[in-house]
Amino acid sequence: MKTLLHMDDVHAYYGAAHILQGLSLRVDEGERVALIGRNGVGKTTTVNTLMGIARLGSGEIRLDGTLVRKALPYTPAQFQIAIVPQGRCIIANLTIEENLLLGSASRRSGPWNLREIYRLFPILKERARTPGTALSGGQQQMLAIGRALMANPRLMILDEPTEGLAPVIVDQLADTLNQVTHQGTAILLIEQNLGLVARTTARYYAVEKGRITTSGAVDPANLNELHSHIAV
Ligand SMILES: Nc1ncnc2c1ncn2[C@@H]1O[C@H](COP(=O)(O)OP(=O)(O)OP(=O)(O)O)[C@@H](O)[C@H]1O
Ligand SMILES: [Mg+2]
Repeated sequence: MKTLLHMDDVHAYYGAAHILQGLSLRVDEGERVALIGRNGVGKTTTVNTLMGIARLGSGEIRLDGTLVRKALPYTPAQFQIAIVPQGRCIIANLTIEENLLLGSASRRSGPWNLREIYRLFPILKERARTPGTALSGGQQQMLAIGRALMANPRLMILDEPTEGLAPVIVDQLADTLNQVTHQGTAILLIEQNLGLVARTTARYYAVEKGRITTSGAVDPANLNELHSHIAV
């Protein structure tokens, strides 16, 4: 089994602020993994370190087995890792279709193309020529996921995709993620919504103060242990 993402004892900084303090995690091909933790513990910084937005001080990052010496914003894409960023980052003056096509810049062959994404999210097809920001929050999240899938990634990292979404939309999101992982794409799901974690992932890491404090199997019948890492 190939390891797509491996962070080992990573220390990362914004300027002098020491945010990741020895964080280690791995995601193998086809795996469904959650990264949970309270606000401000370093979840987004974990993603930002893969893109060189936060500075790697010490420790190792390996993408698909390759040691990354200097991460840049497009580094994950070079290893077929697609990121659905927190806040979605839809480009306002591009249409929905243009936003989707942006995702195909680092495309490899695979099941996902415009037609399949429109099949998954029919609303995006109906609104293809309208600006991306004309969509509701849930629809924008679909667009951000569709854009990531256009690359046919081997690993998709989603940073708090349920933020601000109604429960019925979260249900749709769970179905979508299960379809995606069923195709063999691995996911690293950063979430505080444990319902989504329980329905879409098999293993979790809990972050506190920039490091992993607990990890294990996700047991949908008993989320108490996971909940202790989120509740204040
Ligand atoms: N650009 C930045 N410069 C300096 N500090 C930052 C920057 N971005 C985030 N931080 C700080 O780094 C810490 C970790 O932030 P991070 O965004 O990784 O948290 P998070 O776990 O993703 O939280 P949330 O669940 O609220 O998204 C916080 O204390 C935050 O204030
Ligand atoms: Mg965050």
